Amino acid sequence: MTSYFCPCPRGMEAALAEELGEIAQGSPTLKVHNQVPGGVHCSGDLYDAYRINLHSRIASRVLMRMAVCHYDNENDIYDLVLGTAWEEWFGIDHTIRVDVTAIKSPLKSLEFITLKIKDAVCDRFRDMYNKRPSVDTREPDMRIVGFLDQRQFIIYLDTSGEALFKRGWRSETGDAPLRENLAAGLLRVAGWKPGMPLFDPMCGSGTILCEAAQMVQGIPPGARRRFAFEKFYDFDPQPWEEMKAAIKPRPLPAEPTIFGSDISGDMVAMARHNLKSAGILFDVPLKQIEAQQVQAPTAEPGILLTNPPYGERIGVRGDASLEEDELAKSFYAAFSGTLKQRFAGWTAYFFTADLGLPKLLRLKEARKTPFFNGALECRLFRFDMVAGFNRKTTGTMGSDPTFVQESASGAPARADQGLGSDPTFGQKRGREAGAEQSAAQEAAKPASAAAAPVAPAAAGPWAGTKAGGGSSAVGSASGASGGGAASDAGDAPEPAKMRRAPAPATQPARQARPTLSRPPRPPRKGS
Ligand SMILES: C[S@@+](CC[C@H](N)C(=O)[O-])C[C@H]1O[C@@H](n2cnc3c(N)ncnc32)[C@H](O)[C@@H]1O
Repeated sequence: MTSYFCPCPRGMEAALAEELGEIAQGSPTLKVHNQVPGGVHCSGDLYDAYRINLHSRIASRVLMRMAVCHYDNENDIYDLVLGTAWEEWFGIDHTIRVDVTAIKSPLKSLEFITLKIKDAVCDRFRDMYNKRPSVDTREPDMRIVGFLDQRQFIIYLDTSGEALFKRGWRSETGDAPLRENLAAGLLRVAGWKPGMPLFDPMCGSGTILCEAAQMVQGIPPGARRRFAFEKFYDFDPQPWEEMKAAIKPRPLPAEPTIFGSDISGDMVAMARHNLKSAGILFDVPLKQIEAQQVQAPTAEPGILLTNPPYGERIGVRGDASLEEDELAKSFYAAFSGTLKQRFAGWTAYFFTADLGLPKLLRLKEARKTPFFNGALECRLFRFDMVAGFNRKTTGTMGSDPTFVQESASGAPARADQGLGSDPTFGQKRGREAGAEQSAAQEAAKPASAAAAPVAPAAAGPWAGTKAGGGSSAVGSASGASGGGAASDAGDAPEPAKMRRAPAPATQPARQARPTLSRPPRPPRKGS
């Protein structure tokens, strides 16, 4: 059996282990082992690596363990890598990249270790073929990952290639989009399951919605992308094709259960575009509306899960006359009123780096779970919106009739019937309607209404997303500067403290090659 390590966003280890356990139900060989900060160890045959890459929503990568040793210095690392049979997996025509992560390693320079690993791989090829593979730090064919703790060094070959949060459907990123695997993990931690009502009132580019909608439709996260293992010498296309052919799409839901909204029309357009690119064929009603004005989209209580704006770059949008802090304060105070009055019975989850959010909302959280979004420490706060918070709550829990009517009747706002029917959307589509401009113009109610009772929801149009529907004209103003999905840092293999460095492209002086026995090659299925 081969050992694998699946890194994930820190805090998601238990959720990943649970997910891997579910994936393992389809394989007699896949075994899930221990969780460590930043990932989960498991083992299986090579096809299990295919399987995890295809089905895991939470893993960032699937790293195949090639060799392990105790080390005292850089030369021990060089020797181990030199003795590893890389030529059985790839060749001199493949490009490589080396990344190193360490925790409590006594060695001084990660850059130097990275260089030694790269040298060892290249020296091995040069000794055998008089040629070496080139380094490509941007789009390498093969990624080699080293991990060091105090005494042990492990060398992995990455079976994934691009980090797994890159699902292959996102062409447009909003402001600070969540990574897809983090969004999927949050859905799991929140206890959301297909069929349950889900609402993101600050949906941005729609990452949470896309992940949830793919789960409803039974689209595996890896169905629309390529993997590094497809370039391995012994890649076996037949079982891989069979694995993909075995994917069973789920019946499309008759009624919408997933809903999203955002103050920005450009973001709503982007979310719609992303849902379509993600292959979603059923109605996901979207609405451009200030979050304080939203109503529950369904009479049946569900889960509100959102990643609100935070920080200087992506602040709350609303009354432009207010200072950033004041705007955030008054926005959250008012949004809290919205939740109490209109979302009785719902469970509201906020994923944020603002650890003072409950204070701003003036609500006591039922639970807070720490997570990391890249290097940023975050919390998932849970608030149970118990009925009776506000006696004025209506019998239908204040559900939004425009959601239900428009979705159920296939009224004009549905995307497959044309966007022309959505006057607000139509006006703001296109490049000329930049996100900031939209935000300033579109704020339905200024946040200074904080202390006032929540006004009746603006009857804005909700537009669904179906195949063939939606807008192809996505505003370019949002750019791709967001950290998450735009970066390929992925997640470190194991440690709590992560540092990494790409392999330099230059060659240092070559060292004498020691004699070493090769590590065993990971077994193939049936072997
Ligand atoms: C951090 S982003 C959400 C990113 C999203 N999770 C994604 O993956 O793309 C926060 C979003 O809140 C929206 N927003 C800011 N102020 C708002 C307000 N007052 N009402 C509704 N949405 C607002 C922004 O337009 C932005 O899209």
